[in-house]
Amino acid sequence: MLTSIKTNEFAGSESKKLAMMYFRVAIVLFGAQLLMGLIAATQFLVPGFLFEVFDFSVARMVHINALVVWMLYAMIGSVYYLLPDETGIETVGVGLGKLAFWVLTAAVAVVVLVYIFIQVGPGKESTIWLINEGREYIEAPRWADIGIVVVVLIFYWNVFATFMKGKQTGILTVLVADLLALAGLYLAGMFFTDNISMDQFWWWWVIHLWVEATWEVFVGALAAYGLIKIIGAKREIVEMWLWIEVLMLFGSGILGLGHHYFWIGTPEYWWEIGALFSALEPVPLVAMFVHVLYDWGKEQGAAKAEGKEGAVMNNGPAMAWIVTNAFGNFLGAGIWGFFHTLPQVNIYTHGTQFTAAHGHLAFFGAYATILIGMMYLGVQGAYGVEKLRATFKSKMAIFLITFGVVGMTIALTIAGYEQVLVERAELGAGWSAFFTAQNLPWYVQAQIWRAIMGVVTFVGFAYLVWDLLTIGKQAKQGAKAA
Ligand code: HEM
Ligand code: HEM
Ligand SMILES: [Fe+2]
Repeated sequence: MLTSIKTNEFAGSESKKLAMMYFRVAIVLFGAQLLMGLIAATQFLVPGFLFEVFDFSVARMVHINALVVWMLYAMIGSVYYLLPDETGIETVGVGLGKLAFWVLTAAVAVVVLVYIFIQVGPGKESTIWLINEGREYIEAPRWADIGIVVVVLIFYWNVFATFMKGKQTGILTVLVADLLALAGLYLAGMFFTDNISMDQFWWWWVIHLWVEATWEVFVGALAAYGLIKIIGAKREIVEMWLWIEVLMLFGSGILGLGHHYFWIGTPEYWWEIGALFSALEPVPLVAMFVHVLYDWGKEQGAAKAEGKEGAVMNNGPAMAWIVTNAFGNFLGAGIWGFFHTLPQVNIYTHGTQFTAAHGHLAFFGAYATILIGMMYLGVQGAYGVEKLRATFKSKMAIFLITFGVVGMTIALTIAGYEQVLVERAELGAGWSAFFTAQNLPWYVQAQIWRAIMGVVTFVGFAYLVWDLLTIGKQAKQGAKAA
């Protein structure tokens, strides 16, 4: 991955080079995210760990902001990667795109440094502008917010202009419309109101309508592209699925927003709306799951009928991550989300470790997986290898990362269950109930297991980086020798 900018086989496609630049920063931020997670997890066990040097609030904040930012980087990278393939032409305005990349990366670096060096301080108007906006997941200060808007406008213009000039496939039509909504929603998280209910009302537009609507549609498009590329799935079939999925995702995800409006001071009709529509949200996730496995099985069967042996895919690791995505999206978002989405249940589970269990499995399952898959596609393209086979490192990476995240999820689910029983049901959710529940053995042991599984995840990540750096070169040498 590292040498892929200079010695690539992209045949001059600057768009794909730019994609690799985005992927590279994404993976660095992913590593930073995991390190911050490990610090925060340690602080659950040893509350004094790095106190007033590197506080829990900061470790947690950088953990989840780095998460969102690396995913956005990997998404932009994925778009720049697939754009020339889908349109059949070079991306319009790549030079400007590169400039935007450097501006964005410099801004991200400054924002992270400020987060790390300024641990505590007063909350003033200038804090919002210079330090942090205090909105979970999207805490970038306002100066950076404005910069992000400019950079995203450049990105969107490049995509739109290329789309208009080149071939307009179904996948791209969905992507171009979806990206407009995705980028536009960011604006809802930029206003400041001192009414916390109103603030949360708009903030959820970004968070929920990203992860349960626009980002889901985005990965639907990526999966469609990936399946065509990797297993040679038929475009007509893949695109038909995509349209159905889009319809269902928006049909349930938009009003599903109501499941965040149960207890923040919004009108009570949101109980019914949120319950009904969010309960439907797992349906498209089942469809996405079936779609991936169906296409895979179908292409495999067709190849066998032609007398071909072995798997049909030309990129083993990417396919493995896409299949993990189908499972992970369904389990993390669909099942773990459904568990607590009815107000009757949510009144007990709201804001417990159960929420964190769902947050981890959903973000990982629905997004981390497929974006890592796109990075493997990038490496394959950069080295120009026809078939990228999984190495021992690829297998260790996917196994350990997935095992670690699932392990963390199970541990947090147990902690959440204990909170629901003791803190909420038995002791009535008061201040002292909160602390009593946190000191009982089930909770404490679960937090220990979360930390252990976090280390497993991190070891898997080390294998992933090692693999991404070496797999392309190795495959190329193997192909030459053969
Ligand atoms: C990939 C898609 C999804 C992702 C990445 C995701 C992620 C998250 C995260 C991180 C939170 C915690 C937010 C916070 O900090 O307050 C959350 C909350 C929640 N999610 Fe999801 N989610 C997804 C899909 C779903 C689905 C499909 C459902 C329902 C079927 C669902 C139901 C909920 C509910 C009810 C809450 C509120 C929990 C509480 O009251 O504490 N999520 N989600
Ligand atoms: C080394 C592995 C990891 C460790 C040790 C870790 C640890 C943590 C800790 C301690 C928190 C704060 C929880 C709280 O406030 O109660 C957290 C929050 C969070 N982490 Fe991780 N994490 C890890 C990996 C990941 C991964 C891979 C993802 C997703 C791809 C992720 C997504 C999140 C999210 C969405 C939240 C906010 C959840 C919420 O507030 O409901 N983390 N993590
Ligand atoms: Fe939601």
